[in-house]
Amino acid sequence: MDYDSTGNGPPVLLIHGFPLDRTIWSGQVAPLSRGFHVISPDLPGHGRTPAFDGPASMDRFARGLFDLMDRLSLPRFSVAGHSMGGYIVFAMLRARPERLERIALVCTRAAADSAEARRAREINAARVLAEGPGFLAESMAERVLGANPEPALASRVRDIIRAASPAGVATALRGMAARPDSTPLLQSIRVPTLVVAGREDKIVPVEEARAMAASIPGARLQVLDGAGHIPMLERPEDLAGGLTSWLRPVVTL
Ligand code: MLT
Repeated sequence: MDYDSTGNGPPVLLIHGFPLDRTIWSGQVAPLSRGFHVISPDLPGHGRTPAFDGPASMDRFARGLFDLMDRLSLPRFSVAGHSMGGYIVFAMLRARPERLERIALVCTRAAADSAEARRAREINAARVLAEGPGFLAESMAERVLGANPEPALASRVRDIIRAASPAGVATALRGMAARPDSTPLLQSIRVPTLVVAGREDKIVPVEEARAMAASIPGARLQVLDGAGHIPMLERPEDLAGGLTSWLRPVVTL
């Protein structure tokens, strides 16, 4: 897995969403790396990491990330997962919760896909393999940003999606469609959790994030004004501040 590793201090893993790459965290990596060791990988099939040979699943992404942290000799770490990255955090929580210090779930949901959403993912997977990710870049760029998106941000998101690997996008779509419902897991989470929502998120509405936070014992909810589904790009400083203060107890313990 290709990744960036920056700074010194307690380790923090940043997991990007679909079909993005590690560069979406650039507005958080610099501030966080002043107090933390920040690891930001490109998930298999995204950015500079080749797609899996065979199907992807949230469990397989999670195993790959645990392996990466093993290679870096980091047995315990905090993790922030954005959207699909959050689905992967749920898989990590199912597999090895004792390895996680603190978690941040950014613009993500616990529920599995509806039958209709699964069908739409399969149509998009077949289409991306046939014609590449250009159509997704067009349809997603505006949808993932909040109201009145800055044209420069929309074009940055479009560029990242256009550069995505068709095989990577298709396997991730199929992997997300097959993911389990994580709602029953929420009550049993014992890792301190921050839930971050974008007030203008059209993909995961604030009310859904609020309900998820209410189901996780002791979870804190942060709602970012002026952000849609990608607060990393839309409200980089607010998100960096929220993450830093959330992770800071690890430093001061
Ligand atoms: C993401 O941002 O990772 C995706 O919107 C997640 C999804 O399609 O469910």
